[in-house]
This record gives sequence, C-alpha cells and structure tokens, in this order.
Amino acid sequence: MKILSLVGARPQFVKEALVNQAARKLGAWEHVLVHSGQHYDAVMSDVFFEELGIPAPDYHLGIGSGTHGAMTAAALSAVERVLIDENPGALLVYGDTNTTLAGAIGAAKLHIPVIHVEAGIRQEPKTMPEEINRVLTDHVSSVLCCCSDLAVSNLAAENILSGVHMVGDVMYDLFLRMRTRFKPAEVCAAHGVEPGHFMVATLHRDFNVDDPESLRSILRGLSRLVADSGMPILLPLHPRTRKRMEEFDCAGDASALTLLPSMGYLELMSLVTFSAAVVTDSGGLQKEAYYAGRRALVIMPDTGWRELTNCGWNLLCPVDTDAVATLGLKILEPALQPGDLYGDGGAADHIVRIVAEAMALA
Ligand code: UD1
Repeated sequence: MKILSLVGARPQFVKEALVNQAARKLGAWEHVLVHSGQHYDAVMSDVFFEELGIPAPDYHLGIGSGTHGAMTAAALSAVERVLIDENPGALLVYGDTNTTLAGAIGAAKLHIPVIHVEAGIRQEPKTMPEEINRVLTDHVSSVLCCCSDLAVSNLAAENILSGVHMVGDVMYDLFLRMRTRFKPAEVCAAHGVEPGHFMVATLHRDFNVDDPESLRSILRGLSRLVADSGMPILLPLHPRTRKRMEEFDCAGDASALTLLPSMGYLELMSLVTFSAAVVTDSGGLQKEAYYAGRRALVIMPDTGWRELTNCGWNLLCPVDTDAVATLGLKILEPALQPGDLYGDGGAADHIVRIVAEAMALA
C-alpha cells in the first residue's frame, strides 16, 4: 500500500520526521513525501530536513507565498495532480496550515481517505486562518489522530466520533528522541548568554506582526521586560516578522532585544532548554517549552493548547505593552509543572499502527 504524506511549513517538517521514520521502520507502507513549498527559505525548510534526517521529498510543488486563497488554490491544484498520478491509499496531513487544508480538500474530493495528525485542536478567534484550516480538515478526515484528551472531546462536541484516536504528540516523541543532541551550554556561549538568565521569544502570527501598532506594542513590552528582569531576550525572527519590522521601522522599539536569524530545531531547543522562560505565539513552541520544563507567555487571545493555560503553567497575554512586561515577569516565577499531558512519547508509532489497521480494513 502507498500513502502520500504532505508537508509544507516548518511545524510539519518536525512532525513528518517522526512519522516518516516510524512508517519506514515498521515497513507499514510505501511512504511518498510531498513538499508543497509553502516554506522555501533554507532556514525555514532545508535545515529541518537536514537536522531531523527527513529524506528528500519525492515531489516538490514550489507553491511559495501569497494570499491565503492563492496559496491554498496553488497547493490544491498541484497536490491534486500528484494524487491522481500516484493514486495512494490515503493522504497524511499535519496541523493547520494552508498546505494542510489544500491536501485535505484535494484528497477528499478524489475519495482518498485523509489522515489528520494533530486533529481536534480548537481555539478562538474562529476567523484565524489556522482555525479555519483545522476545522475544515477535521470534517473531511477519516482518521483523526489527537494529541490530547481535550482534542478528542473537541471533536466529539462537533459530532466527529468515528476514526478518532488519542495518540499523543509527535513533537513530544521528537523532543525525547533529540534531546541528547541538544547542546545548551555551547549554544548559550555562542549567543553570549548565561544559562538560566535569558528568555527566548518568537513571533510570527498575522494578528501580532501584520499590524504596526500591535507589533510595536509587543516589541516595546519585550524591551521593558529586558529592563525589568535584567535578562536578555533572544528573538529569532521568522522572515514574515523581519519583513514587517523593516516595513514598519520598528528598530527603536526592539533596541533592547537580541534579534537573530530564524533557527533550526536543534539550536532553538538547545536555547529553550537553558532559558528562564519563553515568550511566543507559536503553537509548537508553547508545548516544546513545557517539554523542556520551561513556562511560556503566549501572546495570543486564546490557544489550542488549553491544557497548559488551564493549569496556569503557560499564561495567555494580550497585545499590550504593559501586559507583556508584567506577565513576562510573572512567567519567570516557579510553578508546579503538570504531568504528562500529551501522550507517552510513542505517538508516531501509534499513528502508524492505527493507520495501517484502518487501511487494511478499508
Ligand atoms: C504558517 C502557518 C502557521 C504556522 C507557521 C509556522 C498558515 C495559514 N499558517 O504561517 O500555522 O504556525 O507557518 O511558521 O499556513 N516567508 C518567507 N520565507 C519562507 C516562508 C515564508 O519569507 O520560507 C514569509 C513570506 O513573506 C510569507 C510570510 O512569511 O508571505 C508568511 O508565510 P506563510 O507561509 O503564509 O505563513 P506563516 O506565517 O509562516
């Protein structure tokens, strides 16, 4: 049997690494890898393939950036062609990007079963592009692999009951697998920071970085946090954020921050492991901070990872200079780390077993 796996953006490469390995190890199926090309810069794409040992994609669709409609349409049309040519037994899609939605629609209309990894995540506002992508993808998927019990109950609330499995988070598997390769002391030295005495921040959400006032107020809040905490903040920049900062002339607002180029998985996780805390609007990093035993300030109106905010480990933060500075100090306080929320570290193996069983029955 042949299964097509579709990736395109940074967080999907991280998830594919483990599922790809597990599928090959178990010889469960012929795994055909398709890269949509949504992320194309070397720092956003190639570095992940290299460090995580993902084989080169069998297809690269080269869709690049654009408006949501243009990207989704380009990916849909290109993926559909591959699906028709390859006629796989199923299509695997990950998370909530435009690439995910394009693949899901393309496959569903060809009656090819869709397997959604990281199904059932829900958050406000419902107008967020990622929320639209994940809701629609879940509703056309046949096998829905969830990271948490909350995700399973979110699906049940929408009457999605069959094909739903709680498998845990493949990003947790990856963290456990890769942590022996983290080099926190060396990476701290390379960035001139003292272990335990710095924070790591990332920003890339459209609602945070595409509006000049929002972006400025977050950067000012982070700069104040540097002054109030006496800790440097390292801010590796997503290309979208770098472009916006130049366009909006934000240099003055970010003068207290240590701006860095986008980073690969190993460097970022090495830093997070030795950081005092994390500030982010990335879904993945909110959980990765928790895996590393670090708290995260989440600059979003809501999060899909409510398990971590409901218990107070992570804190949500509005787009407001004072809130970023004040809650940023709060996140540095010790808290009781909640126990295993995202599975047993074997999510990729569970996914491969479940999919192989489902396909055998189909
Ligand atoms: C996308 C996902 C988001 C995920 C994020 C991880 C959607 C709707 N969103 O957001 O869920 O958290 O990836 O990074 O799919 N750009 C480059 N080089 C690249 C990629 C992007 O310069 O390699 C710039 C372009 O200006 C582009 C912008 O970043 O227009 C945004 O890229 P896009 O893929 O649309 O969304 P992300 O913000 O990366």
